[in-house]
Amino acid sequence: MKGLILSGGRGTRLRPFTYACAKQLIPVANKPILFYGIEALRKAGLTEIGIVTGNNREEIVTAVGEGERWGVRITAIHQAEPRGLAHAVQVARPFLGEDGFLMYLGDNLIGDDLSGMVERFNAKNADAMVMLAEVQEPERFGIAEMDGERVVRVVEKPRQPRSNLALVGVYLFNPLIHEAINEITPSWRNELEITDAIQVLVARGARVEAYRLTGWWKDTGRVDDLLEANRVMLDWWPKPVTLAGEVDANSQLEGDVELGPGSLVAGSIIRGPVAIGADCRVARSYIGPYTSIGAGSAVENTELEHSIVMEGCSLRSAGRITDSVIGKNTTVTGVKSRPQAHRLLLGHDSFLVIS
Ligand code: DAU
Repeated sequence: MKGLILSGGRGTRLRPFTYACAKQLIPVANKPILFYGIEALRKAGLTEIGIVTGNNREEIVTAVGEGERWGVRITAIHQAEPRGLAHAVQVARPFLGEDGFLMYLGDNLIGDDLSGMVERFNAKNADAMVMLAEVQEPERFGIAEMDGERVVRVVEKPRQPRSNLALVGVYLFNPLIHEAINEITPSWRNELEITDAIQVLVARGARVEAYRLTGWWKDTGRVDDLLEANRVMLDWWPKPVTLAGEVDANSQLEGDVELGPGSLVAGSIIRGPVAIGADCRVARSYIGPYTSIGAGSAVENTELEHSIVMEGCSLRSAGRITDSVIGKNTTVTGVKSRPQAHRLLLGHDSFLVIS
């Protein structure tokens, strides 16, 4: 079985970050979202992985290489236009050949081992298997209607959902899906929907099975989802966490704090879970729970909590920052007093003086 990770698309809902960075490379707990997907596939025993890219191709290929780091073989597959998930499968056809495959949406994070789903798919000899989870806003997702354990209908983002069981971004297919894709036409959003192709399989009486997600799942489509994913991932990461940097005697660390090599914490309070990358400097600051700080950043005389700070940032006298996402190489400075907290969503290479 092969793995297919979809990492094309435009990422318009994650602007301004996606002007300068593929959404699948935005870090959560200091690791690009896409890497969690590759690790999940590897853990399920899949070593031949295709990654569909769009205009972010170069950036993604540079980040993942040929997959040596994970012991897998990665093939980059170029989709010139994001014309839908089923279109991405069509473009990947030469890579997929006549093999069964696991399709994984590259902007999803799943706290579940995928091995169980792969085993069930093989054991049941199914034509397709969709991972499902109950959601609050079903109209935002592809939805499955069930009769007991049988999938009787799947609909993409229905206006009036008849179920709250969403298609999580993990699917298993045998080659029958390619014929089904050839039968569908573009949807109202002008995309070839994989949901419609699955519906063709259901209508033809093919074996379409459901697999209920047992752990958590985060679709990182919107900025608030990113912060929530960061929170969940920082809570979930394998313990004990590494403390490779240096902490001076005037600092206090509580809870799970990860500190990368070459980093220094001086005169600061850090209340975990917090992840600080390599070569960072944190001085005279408070870092509160659910914060990640990318490598090579400096935080001085600043209070920061529940935020994602990407690589190479400089927050010096930046006041109190909460619920924020700050793009790479950004500078925030200038706060003389600490009147109130600021919520910042700053794309890469920003420069902000708050006075
Ligand atoms: O997150 C789960 C939902 O994902 C499912 O419930 C829906 O049924 C499914 O259609 C999908 O909906 P989204 O609207 O959230 O999909 P999105 O456009 O965000 O694309 C998902 C991933 O696939 C993302 O990493 C980008 C990539 N992609 C997307 C398109 C449209 C491609 O690689 N090529 C494409 O043409």
